[in-house]
Amino acid sequence: MSNVHPYVGRAKSRVDGPLKVSGLARYAAEFTAPDLAYAAAAPSAIAKGRITSLDVSAALAAPGVIEVLSHENKLAFPEDDEPFKNDMVAVPGSPFRPFRDDRIHYSGQAIALVVADTHENARHAATLVKATYDAETPNVDVAAASHYQPPEPRDGIPPTPEPRGDAAGAFAGAPIKVSADYRVVAEHHNPMELQATTVVWEGDGRLLVHNKTQGVVNPKNYICSVFELDAEKVRFVSPFVGGAFGMALRPHYDVFLAVMASLKLERSIRLVLTRGQMFTMGWRPDCLQTVSFGADAGGRLTSIQHHAIQATSHYEDYQEPIVNWSGFLYDCDNVALKYELGKIDTPTPSDMRAPGATTGVFALECAMDELAYAAQVDPVELRLMNYSDRDKNDDKPFSSKELREAYRLGAERFGWSKRSPEPRSMLEGRELIGYGMATGCWEAMTMPHKARATLTADGKLEVACATADIGTGTYTILAQIGADALGLDIADVTSKVGDTALPMAPVEGGSWAAASAGSAVKDACETLKAELLNHARGIDGSPLANAALDHVVFANGRIALAADPSKAVSFAEILKGAGRDALDADGGYEPDKDFAKTYAGYTHAACFVEVRVDEDLGVVRLARVVSAVAAGKILNPLTARSQILGGVVMGCGMALHEETLWDKTLGRVMNASLGEYHVPAHADIPDIDVIFVDEEDGSNPLGVKGLGEIGIVGTAAAVANAIFHATGKRVRELPITIDKLL
Ligand code: MOS
Repeated sequence: MSNVHPYVGRAKSRVDGPLKVSGLARYAAEFTAPDLAYAAAAPSAIAKGRITSLDVSAALAAPGVIEVLSHENKLAFPEDDEPFKNDMVAVPGSPFRPFRDDRIHYSGQAIALVVADTHENARHAATLVKATYDAETPNVDVAAASHYQPPEPRDGIPPTPEPRGDAAGAFAGAPIKVSADYRVVAEHHNPMELQATTVVWEGDGRLLVHNKTQGVVNPKNYICSVFELDAEKVRFVSPFVGGAFGMALRPHYDVFLAVMASLKLERSIRLVLTRGQMFTMGWRPDCLQTVSFGADAGGRLTSIQHHAIQATSHYEDYQEPIVNWSGFLYDCDNVALKYELGKIDTPTPSDMRAPGATTGVFALECAMDELAYAAQVDPVELRLMNYSDRDKNDDKPFSSKELREAYRLGAERFGWSKRSPEPRSMLEGRELIGYGMATGCWEAMTMPHKARATLTADGKLEVACATADIGTGTYTILAQIGADALGLDIADVTSKVGDTALPMAPVEGGSWAAASAGSAVKDACETLKAELLNHARGIDGSPLANAALDHVVFANGRIALAADPSKAVSFAEILKGAGRDALDADGGYEPDKDFAKTYAGYTHAACFVEVRVDEDLGVVRLARVVSAVAAGKILNPLTARSQILGGVVMGCGMALHEETLWDKTLGRVMNASLGEYHVPAHADIPDIDVIFVDEEDGSNPLGVKGLGEIGIVGTAAAVANAIFHATGKRVRELPITIDKLL
């Protein structure tokens, strides 16, 4: 089959799909070694206090046990914070480190690591570790914590915008006022793949580490820094990731403890955390919010105030942009935004799909729905009336913003015009029908990346970069970009990611990987093409002797003159002429700082939801979701659609199911299992219709703005607004469970 270009912009099934469905794709816990031993972490029974004694004798005497490590016999590591901040996703504060001392910071904290001959023996022996504690009373409720503005901002996230105009004054004088409190509760990511590390001890202090991570470079830097290891002797290889959603951005205690055990015992170690232990690390923080709008009699916003109090741990000030969206999504001159933290006795929260936006836009978009009823304006009309063509937080134009078109196409596909505005006015049999909508937005970010492109004599291309494919389709889009650049059939292109031996990439997060890694790969391919042409021109009697790059075409394994394709040199001839088995070229991508100074870059979405509520039973059934997304160039409609589907499903989970419940007395997660922490199942999710709105954007060479996160933003608000339309009940605390509707 001949190749059909361009691949970019067209649907292409995942190139890694066959490996995944056949089980050949290996994840962190599936790598092995002849001397592999298995580790299991024993959890703290208290949430706060000190260990007064640790008795590991029973664990040590258990079958198959090789060693038990704890703060009493750990491998020494530095006392100061700095080495532990060698983490691209570190936040202000003092990073957690297991076995530092006898202090307990949260329930389930690892107090000992059992190493045994089998996974089962390690798990069993971990239950035999006995500790006594000097326990203090924990607080896991952010509402009961004192609140403060973070003294040190977190790197890489925008600061809370300064107030503009007189929001309080404008609110006081507004003919229409809406003011309400909203609560987004704690959630845990719960990807299918458990957090896990396999360390292969290669002798002489050389480590090959397979770690579940959203970017191999980050945990490698961290591990080398905290254990003072020679970077030359450590390689991280993690080609596949079974979902992550942000939980695998920071290095976790599994990699720290597995490496510690490997260095101490000088053998290979595997540590797989349990599903319950997935609740002993980063999470979406509980957040209390108040949104107040003042509007003129027609519904035009004259005042926006948004205040958020978000949970963090006692040892770090985790921060995410929760209120910022309220400063630019709608056009308003009087804005006051306030962002505070409250410390509780849990692990530090972490980024979870669209961190900040998911939480803040929920409150903002529910409040907009409340304003629509107060002003008696259609919710879509209200948003168009308050549409902003300028980012007033930073006083910049948008690089592109096709949100108007997203509203229009979404409403049309959904059939929004059939909505009767009154709550409880649409009924079918026993079911109240509700139509709700909300806006979503997320930052269009990019990060510095490097990449390499290698062409071999058999005409095959490899494109490589140390980024991760966390299930998003990175392998596929990089292959599409490479195939187009060199005019190859995509079957002749291989992508490589997830290896610290490959060119540098940051963590895969923030929806920046496609634009950044993709642009770096494109750049490497362009350099490779120039190099190939150079060699082609040098061949004796070359038909391309005088050809310039823009006069030739790369296709079918050859370089040909555009004007006369019969004048061509094959890639094989070029490599032969150059006396090489392979030619490679390095490339890179750097964010365009001038562009970012001039323009604000965001993706946008309009989400429409139909719910059906059986009031006798309090049951909410999602009937339909339409999500219209404006996110610049779509590289692959198939993988792109999957990203939006995933985001929408997670938003539905947030609206109706997901909630991490801490026992307030014990400070312990009470539903640390997928049996009790509810995520949507297939039967909970209706037809989801995804629309990509045409949008041209100039912020990077690909025109891509990123899709990993935008699908979740606004979805929960659209569900909550639809439930209000169906029932007349405004539920401002998620998830909207049966008890809140009866
Ligand atoms: Mo994303 S929350 O940056 O993985």
